[in-house]
Amino acid sequence: MFGAARAWGRARATCAFDTTRRLASAAATTSPLGRAPVKVALAMSAGCAALAMWREDEVCCAASKPVDKGTLRGKVALVTGATGSIGSAVARDLAMQGCSIAVVDLNESKCEEVASGLPTKSIGLAIDVSSEESVKAGYARIANELGAVDILVNVAGILSNNKVFETTAEEWRRVHAINYDSCFYLSKACIPHMKEQGWGRVVNLTSWAWKSGGLTAGTAYSASKGALVGLTFSLARQFAGDGVTVNGVAPCYVMSPMIMEQLTAEKRAELLEMIPVHRFCTPDEVAHAVVFLCSPLSGFITGEIIDMNGGFQMD
Ligand SMILES: NC(=O)c1ccc[n+]([C@@H]2O[C@H](COP(=O)([O-])OP(=O)(O)OC[C@H]3O[C@@H](n4cnc5c(N)ncnc54)[C@H](O)[C@@H]3O)[C@@H](O)[C@H]2O)c1
Repeated sequence: MFGAARAWGRARATCAFDTTRRLASAAATTSPLGRAPVKVALAMSAGCAALAMWREDEVCCAASKPVDKGTLRGKVALVTGATGSIGSAVARDLAMQGCSIAVVDLNESKCEEVASGLPTKSIGLAIDVSSEESVKAGYARIANELGAVDILVNVAGILSNNKVFETTAEEWRRVHAINYDSCFYLSKACIPHMKEQGWGRVVNLTSWAWKSGGLTAGTAYSASKGALVGLTFSLARQFAGDGVTVNGVAPCYVMSPMIMEQLTAEKRAELLEMIPVHRFCTPDEVAHAVVFLCSPLSGFITGEIIDMNGGFQMD
C-alpha cells in the first residue's frame, strides 16, 4: 500500500521539481544577477521536490487553498484527558474536521458518552496514561477498532499548586507520571505508524508555567510542563524529516475547574487586572490552536510552543 503511495509521491515530486526549474530559468533570463538566482532557485526546487515527496498537500494548501471543514477527514486522532474541559473541546473540534476520535480518559463510561456525541466514528476507552502497560493495551485496542493513530493530542494532566518545600516525593512522581511520562509512552506507541506513512501530528498541552516558573502553579507542575517542552523539541527534531510535526500549546488560566476551583475570587480578580486582555482563555480557544497545529496549514511548523497568555508574557 505504501509502495503505491510512494510512487505517486515521486511522480508529484518530479512534477513540482520541473515546474520550479522552469520558473528558475525564467527568473534567470530576466534577472540582472544573471545565473545566480538559478542556483538558488534550483537548490530551492530540490528542497521543494523533497518536500513534495510526502507533504505536497501541505505546501499547496499553505500557498493557495483555504482549509475548510473536513480537512482531516479519515484521520484517526487520539485525545487524552478527553472528558475534561480542554480535551473534550479538542475532541469535538477535531471530529468536526473529519477525524475519528479515540476519546481517552480515566472513566470509560464518560469517554463513551463523549465519543457517542461526536459526528464521526469514534470510540471511548479508559487508559491510565501514567502507566506504559495501560497505554500499550489501549493503543492496541484503538488500532484494532479505529485504525492506527495519525494525530496524538496529549491533554491529560493534573495541577498541583504546592511549592517545593510542600511537595512530597510521592506528589512529585505522580505529577510527572501523568503530565510528562504519559507523553513519552504515547509518543512511543503512536509515532512509528506516523513515521511509516510519512505524515503525523503530535500536540502536547504544556502550560505558561513552564516558562513563568508557576505564578500560582506549584513546583512539580511547572517542572513537569518544562520537561514536556524538552520532549516536544527532542521529538520534533528527530522526526522532522519524516513528515511528523511535534508542537505544544502553552495556555495560561483557561476557564476550567482545574483553575477556577483552585483560585479564590480575589486571586482571579487580581489576575484579570494583570492579564493585558483582561479575561481568561477558553477551552474552545485552546482547541482552535490545536486544530491549527494538526491541519495542513501548519506543515512547516515543528518544535514550536504556541503561547496563549493574553499578552501576559511577550517574548
Ligand atoms: N486549565 C488551565 O488553566 C490550563 C492552563 C495551562 C495548561 N493546562 C493543561 O491543559 C490540560 C487539560 O486541562 P483542563 O483544564 O482541561 O483540566 P481537566 O481537569 O478538565 O482535564 C484533565 C483530564 O485529564 C484526565 N486525567 C488525569 N489523570 C489521568 C490519567 N492518569 N490518565 C488519563 N487521564 C487522566 C482527567 O480525568 C481529566 O479529564 C492539562 O494538561 C493542563 O495541565 C490547563
